[in-house]
Amino acid sequence: PSLSRIQNIYDFEYIASRVLSDQAWNYYSCGAEDEITMRENHYAYQRIYFRPRCCVNVQDVDTTHELLGSKASVPFYVSAAASAKLGHDDGECSIARGAGKEGVVQMISSFSSNSLEEIAEARPEGSTQWFQLYVNEDKNVVKKTLKRAENLGMKAIFVTVDAANRGNREKDIRQRITEDHDELDEDHSVRAGSTSGAMPSFIDKRMDWNEIKDIISWTHLPVLVKGVQRHEDIEKAIDIGCQGVVLSNHGGRQLDTSPPPIEVMAESIPILKAKGKLDPNFNIFVDGGVRRGTDILKALAIGGKDCKVAVGLGRPFLYANTGYGEKGVRKAIQILREELKADMRMLGVTSLDELDESCIDTRRLTGR
Ligand code: FNR
Repeated sequence: PSLSRIQNIYDFEYIASRVLSDQAWNYYSCGAEDEITMRENHYAYQRIYFRPRCCVNVQDVDTTHELLGSKASVPFYVSAAASAKLGHDDGECSIARGAGKEGVVQMISSFSSNSLEEIAEARPEGSTQWFQLYVNEDKNVVKKTLKRAENLGMKAIFVTVDAANRGNREKDIRQRITEDHDELDEDHSVRAGSTSGAMPSFIDKRMDWNEIKDIISWTHLPVLVKGVQRHEDIEKAIDIGCQGVVLSNHGGRQLDTSPPPIEVMAESIPILKAKGKLDPNFNIFVDGGVRRGTDILKALAIGGKDCKVAVGLGRPFLYANTGYGEKGVRKAIQILREELKADMRMLGVTSLDELDESCIDTRRLTGR
């Protein structure tokens, strides 16, 4: 269908389900085991209600936001997701172009289907990319990769810490058993880890907080840990000098029945605040199940002025890239930006700085 008929982020998902090969659709869409976490990531947002403020002048609304020092047109970013070529021949490069042209930051996966050089080359002038790192067992590889990311102009390093073991993604595994992988070229399948089976073969299972400290010392870029799932670990990340965390369960693809990140966020911030641990410049990002402008506003409201918040989306951009490439990615961003603007007006806020806990009711989420 023509892009003009696409109304929301779910439409891209539906179209992707129809046009992708079974193998690619299963790989993109699956979660681990019973997919409880994957569903809850999404449902958790429905347990937060707004408390709209009326009679506010909302003629002009501003969706711009600062993410790790970079100005962006919106408070969300493209999260790292492997193997964009399964959906579109231009792979991560069309995502880079689409995101960059819309003023959106792209986080690039260690398992991208294009090389980091190609994706950096596709980055439009003035736009921002971050690099997502899977920690290799060979520390020289890690150091070299960090240098490569720095030299290619990446602005931050996100170390993924929720994948010491690959999640048990049965739909994906079943497909892998029943179909061979000839359609993926050698280089692609090795680099991109085209299925979960190939993915974490070299990820260091011994990685601990000391290693995160090492990574901080090996790069001049800000280091954030992606895949934090409890407040104790946010505190550790603060203590060892990380610039931030991403509360994430990998889109429900790793440990099933781990909690929705938005719930972890709502629980953690008051605890860290009470302990005097939270610096308002510390970054607490969140991803998983975000599909609407309302979801994004809720996450920002939970963070309020206690920390810096941004929101990541994974699958939506793989789906928007599928078939449509750069244009689909731009359309997905435009849809979300328009939703944000409309929702801000109806909520009674004109800039994202105004969002705080008074804008939402989280009692159904946290029981408090
Ligand atoms: C991912 N994600 C991911 N994360 C990461 O750190 N490195 C990676 O290579 C990948 N690869 C990847 C592939 C696919 C197909 C998916 C769906 C996800 C996780 C991703 O960054 C993010 O945490 C989730 O996708 C967020 O959930 P939603 O937005 O997909 O619901």
